[in-house]
This record gives sequence, C-alpha cells and structure tokens, in this order.
Amino acid sequence: MSEAPPSSTVAPTAPATPATAARQHARVIAVTSGKGGVGKTFVSANLAAALTRRGYRVLVLDTDLGLANLDVVLNLYPKLTLHDVFTAKANLEDTLIEAPGGFTVVLAGSGMVEYSRLTPEVRGDLLQAIQTLAPRYDVILLDTGAGISDVVLFSISLATDVLVVATPEPTSLTDAYAAIKVLASQQGRQHIRLVVNQTARAGDGRAITGQLQQVLNRFVATGSGQPLRLIHMGDIPADPTVRDAVMRRQLLVQHMPGCPAALAIAQLASKIDAALLSPEAAN
Ligand SMILES: Nc1ncnc2c1ncn2[C@@H]1O[C@H](COP(=O)(O)OP(=O)(O)OP(=O)(O)O)[C@@H](O)[C@H]1O
Ligand SMILES: [Mg+2]
Repeated sequence: MSEAPPSSTVAPTAPATPATAARQHARVIAVTSGKGGVGKTFVSANLAAALTRRGYRVLVLDTDLGLANLDVVLNLYPKLTLHDVFTAKANLEDTLIEAPGGFTVVLAGSGMVEYSRLTPEVRGDLLQAIQTLAPRYDVILLDTGAGISDVVLFSISLATDVLVVATPEPTSLTDAYAAIKVLASQQGRQHIRLVVNQTARAGDGRAITGQLQQVLNRFVATGSGQPLRLIHMGDIPADPTVRDAVMRRQLLVQHMPGCPAALAIAQLASKIDAALLSPEAAN
C-alpha cells in the first residue's frame, strides 16, 4: 500500500470562486442507498473531487455514524471526528480535513454503536454541525449509511436533495425501492435522483429507472397525491480500476481520470451542476 501524505486540518473558509460566488448556503445532497456496499462512499468521494474541479467549495460529511469508511477510501487518518464533537471533546472546526481531491471532509469516527439509536442529542448535534458548516460551502454531500434506520432517515431529512445509489442487482433494486418508498411517505419527497452504479451495458440505468418508476406509480403516493418522480442522473459502469483505486486508497478521478467509471463520475458532476448548483438551475 502506498504512503499518502498525512491529512491536515484546513482553514474553515475557502475562498469563493467565480462559479460559486452567488451561493450563500450549501446545497445539501444526501448520497444514500437501500442496500449496503453499492458504492455510496466511492460516489461521494469522487463526485466531491469532480465538483471541486468545477469550481465549487465542497464538503463531504460522513453521516454513516456506525460503520464509516470514507477515511479508508481517502486514506485519511483523522485525529478528531464528529464523535469527539458529539461528546464535547472537540470543536467542529478541529474536525475539518483537507482531502486529496481539494475538498473538505468531516469524518464520523468508526464503530460507534451508540449512534445506531437516534437520540434527541444526536439529532441536535448533527443538525447543528450542518447549520454551522453550510454557509461556508456550495455543496455538502452527506455520505449516509445504507437502509432505512432512524439515523439514516434523519440524516437524509437534513438534505434538500437525495441521490440514491443502486446497482442493477435485484437485491439492490428491491432495497432501493423500499428506501424510496419510505422517503416518499415519511419525508414527502416529490423527486428522488438515482445513479445506477456498476452497470454492464449502456442504457441499463435508464431502463432500471423506468421500471422502478412504474412500480412507484402503482404503489407509492406522495402527500400531494402526485407520483414521486425518479430522476435518472447517470450510470457508472462496472470498472476494474475502481477496485484498484480503492485498494490503493486513491480517488479514481485522480488515479485514472480517463477510465470509464471516472468519465461517468465527471458526467454525473456536470449533470448535478446543471440541475442543482449553477445559477441557471431550475430549483
Ligand atoms: N463502478 C464500480 N466498478 C467496480 N467496482 C465498484 C464500483 N463501484 C463500487 N465498487 C466496489 O464496491 C465497493 C464498495 O463501495 P463503497 O464502499 O463505496 O460502498 P458503500 O455503499 O459506501 O458501502 P457501505 O454501505 O458499506 O457504506 C468498492 O470498494 C469497490 O471495490
Ligand atoms: Mg460507505
């Protein structure tokens, strides 16, 4: 395993770039999934790097409070994490880490089983962390845990937009459907964005989105009575270089920027930029 330079704490406020000067408050996007292990952390980290390259100030907040692994993917060795903030052992400022892709990361701290239960304190602490950090960034990506536990649903509730990651496997799609259904009924979500990861063929993601939409139309009603709209944001092909980058603990978009999965991430970033971030975005 190659040695990476140690992670460092960054100044809390990055300068605004021309692309972003208008934004006063970060757009908060939850990256989530029904089934675990489908690529949320891989997508969050590489999407963050791709959005940074487009001129945005990006923070990835690890809200997988029980089983975080963003530090592993990015080869970071955090001294202080959200856990230390929640237990009053550190200030939020001390947990900001500069990641290799030029964005900022706040890590949850691994294996804290006490957070598998959502207490009012955890709710308040997480909300406060996001409120404190939001004015300093253009985008905050929440790398959530998988599934529909209380902690996962609460962290998604703090986001304006939801990006569900699913793979074409039937188990992943069934779990994605279950998660989307809960988000429609409990959070009144009208739109959910979908990225299909580890696709085998071009067009797979669009077909899968269409199939899921049909089931949602039949069985899931939102508060407004309108069917929830699933928005296909792109496909990321199954690509052996992803595993290679993870093994080296490097960002794919830096390790192999021309490989098919890295190109797909760049395209996803462009679509998110146009749909949610640029001043012309219809939102
Ligand atoms: N497009 C891809 N092509 C090939 N392998 C992939 C791809 N995307 C993800 N993987 C593999 O899947 C593994 C799991 O990805 P990742 O850790 O991002 O999932 P996760 O959804 O965050 O998991 P968890 O639910 O445990 O947090 C990666 O380590 C990588 O090896
Ligand atoms: Mg993960």
